[in-house]
Amino acid sequence: MTYNPPKASRRLYYEDVPAYMTEVYDWAYVNPDHARWLDRNIVVKTLLFGNDQRLMRAYLDKLRPGMRVWQVAHVYGDLVSRAARAVGEEGRFLLTDITPVQIEHGLAKLEHFPQAEVVRADAATFRARESFDLITSFFLLHEVPDDLKCRIVDNMLDQLPEGAEALFVDYHRPAAWQPIGWLLRGVNAWLEPFACALWKKEIRDYAREPERFVWEKRTIFGGVYQIVSVRHRD
Ligand SMILES: C[S@@+](CC[C@H](N)C(=O)[O-])C[C@H]1O[C@@H](n2cnc3c(N)ncnc32)[C@H](O)[C@@H]1O
Repeated sequence: MTYNPPKASRRLYYEDVPAYMTEVYDWAYVNPDHARWLDRNIVVKTLLFGNDQRLMRAYLDKLRPGMRVWQVAHVYGDLVSRAARAVGEEGRFLLTDITPVQIEHGLAKLEHFPQAEVVRADAATFRARESFDLITSFFLLHEVPDDLKCRIVDNMLDQLPEGAEALFVDYHRPAAWQPIGWLLRGVNAWLEPFACALWKKEIRDYAREPERFVWEKRTIFGGVYQIVSVRHRD
C-alpha cells in the first residue's frame, strides 16, 4: 500500500532542504509524489543508458561481509538494500541523504537490515562517530554546486582511515566519438546545471590536498562515466 502523508505535513518535505535542491531538483528528490514515482530500478537503468548494473558492480563488488560502509547519498532502486545485504549483519551500512523524502525511502528499503542506519545529513558536513572501510559517492557530485563538490570530497577524504577506500562513481567528459555526449549536453543544459563541471575537472581537483592520496580513475561507456578509487598514499 502506498503511504500518503496528510497534506499539512507536506511542508516537512521542504524543511531545511538547501536551495539548489528545491530550485533545481525539486522534481526528482524533494517533491514526495515525484520521488515516490521515480524510485525504481527501471528509472536508474534509463537514466544511465543501461549501464546501471555495470556501474553498481564497480561499487558492490568491493563489498564483503563484515565491512563498514558509508554511502553519502541515497540512490533510486535497490542499490542501498543490495549494499546493506552484501556487508551482512556482521558489517555496517550507513546511508546519509539531505532530503526528507529520500530518507523516508532509504528507511523503508533498509528496515529489515539491522546492520543499516539512515541519517539525514549533508554529505559536506556530516561527521561520523565511527570509521569506515569504504566511503562511496554514487552519482552525487554532478548534482551539487562546485563549492559543495569540494566540501563533499574533502569531508569524505578527511574521514578516510589509512587502508580504507573512497569511491566516486559519476559522470565524466564523453569521448568525441560518443554520440550520447551530445544528448547529455542537452540534458545538462536543461536539467543538470552542475554536471558539466565534471567534464572539465578531475575529481581529484576538488580535493584540498590531492597529493596525500593515490587516485585511480577508469572510465566506461566512451568516457561518459568515471569510477575513481582513492586511498591514502603510503
Ligand atoms: C546520489 S544522487 C542520485 C543519483 C541517481 N539520479 C539516482 O538516484 O538513481 C541524488 C541524491 O543525493 C541527495 N543529495 C543531494 N545533495 C546532497 C548532500 N549535500 N548531501 C547528501 N545527499 C545529498 C539527494 O537528496 C538525492 O537523494
